[in-house]
Amino acid sequence: FPCPVKQQPQCRLAACATKSNTMNSKPILSIEWISSGQGHLRLLDQTTLPTTISYVDCHQVETVWEAIRALRVRGAPAIGIAAAYGIVVGLGSGIEANRDKTVRRLEEVKDYLASSRPTAVNLFWALDRMKAKWVSLSPELTPSQVREELLAEAVRIHDEDRAMCHSIGRHGAELLRSARGVLTHCNTGGLATSEYGTALSVFFTAQDQGNLLHVYVDETRPLLQGARLTAWELMQRNIPATLICDSMAAQVMREGRVQAVVVGADRIAANGDAANKIGTYGLAILAKHHSIPFYVAAPSNTFDLSIENGSAITIEQRDSKEVTEAFGKRTAPEGVDVYNPAFDVTPAELISGIITERGVIRPVNREAVLALLKH
Ligand code: MRU
Repeated sequence: FPCPVKQQPQCRLAACATKSNTMNSKPILSIEWISSGQGHLRLLDQTTLPTTISYVDCHQVETVWEAIRALRVRGAPAIGIAAAYGIVVGLGSGIEANRDKTVRRLEEVKDYLASSRPTAVNLFWALDRMKAKWVSLSPELTPSQVREELLAEAVRIHDEDRAMCHSIGRHGAELLRSARGVLTHCNTGGLATSEYGTALSVFFTAQDQGNLLHVYVDETRPLLQGARLTAWELMQRNIPATLICDSMAAQVMREGRVQAVVVGADRIAANGDAANKIGTYGLAILAKHHSIPFYVAAPSNTFDLSIENGSAITIEQRDSKEVTEAFGKRTAPEGVDVYNPAFDVTPAELISGIITERGVIRPVNREAVLALLKH
């Protein structure tokens, strides 16, 4: 079978097919505001990757809500960005001439979007920032000027995330100078953010600096964000990647294949306890046992300083079908009892450092978190 991408040293058909698609067209964006007509939000549907590249066009706020809930758009920063645009979508273009009604509608849309998923604090952070914007606007503005201002704020949130991702990458790459192999969990790349990512940004930056790491990718049960999304993103960038089942991490560490673990986060408490995709806590324990540094990479808007520690983080419970079925096919007996928490919390004492856009928090404790975030 001829490799359609001649430069690929090793032809892997799925990646080649995808790569040739992307090389011939504009880059794949997980979130895009389409300004033609009245304007709408376009989301890359992450549930169909890596085999199909398809988009969800959101003209109604209900479509944005469903896309967040169903993980069509996912990853803490991406959820926040989508929700910010979702406020504009929810406001619509046939805006009430009456300013009070406009504000009431905005409050309704905000509460509705906030009910889509509970754990990633970036969702609530972005919605609060959009509210702070509409509260600050002059009462003299017409409703369509209000919409313009809110769209500009959503674009700012989107742009700021890009800058934060690149900065996280630079701070993180410093920590991996002597590493050859690294391990990651879930998906923390361009798909999960504006672009470039958080934990994956660290690997991309290391590559840009000439340090080509070998990345072990946990498949990330039950929804396979590692296998479907992270492996795909790494292959797009020609970063050597090896996919493993989650249960293989201990063996990979024992064999000395990884010198660091880098993961993302959905919410970090004031003491540094970090919620991330289910399975992260177990990885941190394994890393400690094998004396491997365990890093969390996240922007400052993933911190929730209103909570003292991780016990106050709401853990999303998801549909049992995610565990009993694999992509529409039953893999467990009918009627079996299932527990499906989507996240777990890694205690601060297991985290070697938190890589943020402002620098690295190390050691991880309340004083160090506040020192970095409050200056
Ligand atoms: O359920 P998901 O796929 O939204 O979970 C995503 C994660 O747990 C990521 O690791 C986290 O959001 C960081 S993304 C930069």
